[in-house]
Amino acid sequence: MPINEIPVITIDGPSASGKGTIAQLVAKKLGFHYLDSGALYRLVALKTIHSHIDIQNHDILAEITKNLDVRFSDDVIYLDGKVVTDEIRTEECGILASQLATYSQIREALKKRQREFCSRPGLVTDGRDMGSVIFPNAVLKVFLTASAEIRAQRRYKQLIEKGMNANIANLLHDIEKRDERDSNRTIAPLQQGADTRLLDTSSLTISQAQDAILSWYNEICAKNSCLTRK
Ligand code: DC
Repeated sequence: MPINEIPVITIDGPSASGKGTIAQLVAKKLGFHYLDSGALYRLVALKTIHSHIDIQNHDILAEITKNLDVRFSDDVIYLDGKVVTDEIRTEECGILASQLATYSQIREALKKRQREFCSRPGLVTDGRDMGSVIFPNAVLKVFLTASAEIRAQRRYKQLIEKGMNANIANLLHDIEKRDERDSNRTIAPLQQGADTRLLDTSSLTISQAQDAILSWYNEICAKNSCLTRK
């Protein structure tokens, strides 16, 4: 890695694989910035819902995406100045985000925005195409996954803890549908690239998954003197 390049760790994986939680922990441990790219797609979905836009109108959607007024401040997410941190986590928003994510104009409009998150001392990012499209030069690329059943159980727990309604069978159905759409779309599909390390967290704790990524990163640092080991 050239000495002046900013280290980026990408964590891609299917819905509810725990990549958000783990990416945040790794970022915190390393003192790096964090980008939740899925939140951007969810924000576009929420804006679309609020504005009652016809989702077949790709030009208007692209315009909305380019002008999206969003702000990330610690753990709080703002859309048009209003807190939407929990609102974007609903299944409705996730499903619409996955549909809108198949549109090339929306993906293109979000590219620059995502790359702007890359600043010193480094970035940890999670999504579907972080390693394959947005940050192809990342120092470490991880494909984080777990079985669909385990992911449905985790999502169920998350929603119940937030006081939201949830049904395991429906969640499993939605997760499988979303996996299929995210993995089979023509543009930037969710796939494990040849340069990406696989981490199956089905039987791992959050802390074990975090340690696995940190130890891969430290291994890479040991081989690249320009990187700071943590
Ligand atoms: O990670 P998430 O479940 O919050 O993402 C919501 C949807 O956004 C996901 O189903 C597909 C889309 N997405 C994407 O296409 N590319 C990304 N880098 C991140 C999310």
